Amino acid sequence: MEKDVKIPRHIAIIMDGNGRWAAKHHVPRVSGHNAGMEAMKDIVRAASHMGVEYLTVYAFSTENWKRSKEEVSGIFKLLVKFVLRDLEELHQENVRVRVLGDYSVIPDSARKSMDETLKKTENNTGMQFNIALNYGSRAEILRAINRIVQLQREGVLPQEEITEELLSRYLYTGEENGNIPDPDLIIRTSGEERLSNFLLWQGAYSELSFTDSLWPDFTPKEFSSMVEEYGTRDRRYGGRQEKK
Ligand code: FPP
Repeated sequence: MEKDVKIPRHIAIIMDGNGRWAAKHHVPRVSGHNAGMEAMKDIVRAASHMGVEYLTVYAFSTENWKRSKEEVSGIFKLLVKFVLRDLEELHQENVRVRVLGDYSVIPDSARKSMDETLKKTENNTGMQFNIALNYGSRAEILRAINRIVQLQREGVLPQEEITEELLSRYLYTGEENGNIPDPDLIIRTSGEERLSNFLLWQGAYSELSFTDSLWPDFTPKEFSSMVEEYGTRDRRYGGRQEKK
């Protein structure tokens, strides 16, 4: 990577194309997710070394439950494998792991692994790695509104108009996960160009970057070049000047 590249503080990634990668290689879909997990690990390491402060990945959406039982349980088994095998390295890298989404409903072993991961890394001060698990943006926004209304009813919050700032605080990216800044850059692999219910509120001003590479084929090199290209963009936030 060139020197003096403007590094995004927060990068979010829609890791798409594991299934197509598996079909292309004539292996089961779960093997595609396994290859995707390896790619994810390389990107986490690369982002941390680059000085990215927050990396968020879309690992499992509220819609992914519609997939076959084997595929769903395969993805959660991989999550456990990832934690058992790679948690120590993440911890050594000083990475702090957090979860966006209601993961209380994922299979027990995966939930326990996540709890262990969050606990082990909670005092780390390096990059924050957010795993979106059972995450959906619309459900997240509704949950925030319902929580605010409830707290207003209970008298914990004043009965005032709901502002952007207040709503943001009650999203998964808000207070409960350390007030994560909005993503500067959202990447999606595999040639699809849509957000699929990912960070819709937070991504209002994000730069978007797409690549035809299938997620398991996405390399740190391609990641770096996307970050470099991001550095050349002029972000105006609806105004004329780059916001400082
Ligand atoms: C999208 O590919 C990928 C997913 C829905 C799962 C992402 C999971 C991983 C990268 C590995 C597991 C890691 C964790 C932390 C759980 P797709 O299956 O939609 O691909 P397709 O569109 O080609 O079918």
